[in-house]
Amino acid sequence: MGLNRSLRYHLIETGEVLERVRELILGVSGASGSRLALRALVLFTTSPEIDVLHLVVSRRALLVARDETSRGIKTAADFVAAAGLAPEFASRVRIHPSEAIDAPIASGSYRTLGMAVLPCSAGTLASIANGLSRGLLQRAADVCLKERRRLVLGLRETPLSLVHAENILRATQAGAVVAPVVPAFYAVATLDEAIDAYLLRVADLLSVSIETESYRWKGAP
Ligand SMILES: Cc1cc2nc3c(=O)[nH]c(=O)nc-3n(C[C@H](O)[C@H](O)[C@H](O)COP(=O)(O)O)c2cc1C
Repeated sequence: MGLNRSLRYHLIETGEVLERVRELILGVSGASGSRLALRALVLFTTSPEIDVLHLVVSRRALLVARDETSRGIKTAADFVAAAGLAPEFASRVRIHPSEAIDAPIASGSYRTLGMAVLPCSAGTLASIANGLSRGLLQRAADVCLKERRRLVLGLRETPLSLVHAENILRATQAGAVVAPVVPAFYAVATLDEAIDAYLLRVADLLSVSIETESYRWKGAP
């Protein structure tokens, strides 16, 4: 772009947008909710605002996905295949091994819009809230916190212990948005609809458009 270096850095420092970043991170941890993660994969990769979706699936998430789906999922590539993406959208997914702490998203200098962890286990919440950065999913989340980028944690656990509540507080104070996977009981009739309505709220938090606009509340009829 015809901008000299110092002006470029000035614009970044003053928060003016040079060009919109079109990359997002999806972390999938080992809480119940493989269907939620698979649907998020579809909706985020088909978003007109996303060119690259960085995907990190924890080892335990693969085990849960094997239990919760009948797709014989063993690897993150199997996980993406199970989402059934059209080739033009599948090519937007960049799979990172969960131990690859040298991946680009492990560095704050690599710019992304932010990250969603869907579903987020209580264990992953605890690790993120306490900055453990064990493995790429947790490190990428830690990077989002330190760079003040949006981090949405779709916590899936019930009931909550005091430990969970304290970790929610800690993560929230550090800048994350904890968005528990809790369905809206209005305007949805099925689990698939509840998932789409929930993902619309997550997409709003990430300032990304997805195709589930119809679930937006427009006032009582
Ligand atoms: C079928 C299954 C469902 C699970 N559901 C949840 C859950 O909803 N929430 C949760 O916090 N942990 C759940 N767990 C436990 C996590 O998988 C476990 O704590 C794991 O260590 C999380 O690892 P990760 O956060 O690194 O992916 C579940 C485990 C299994 C096998």
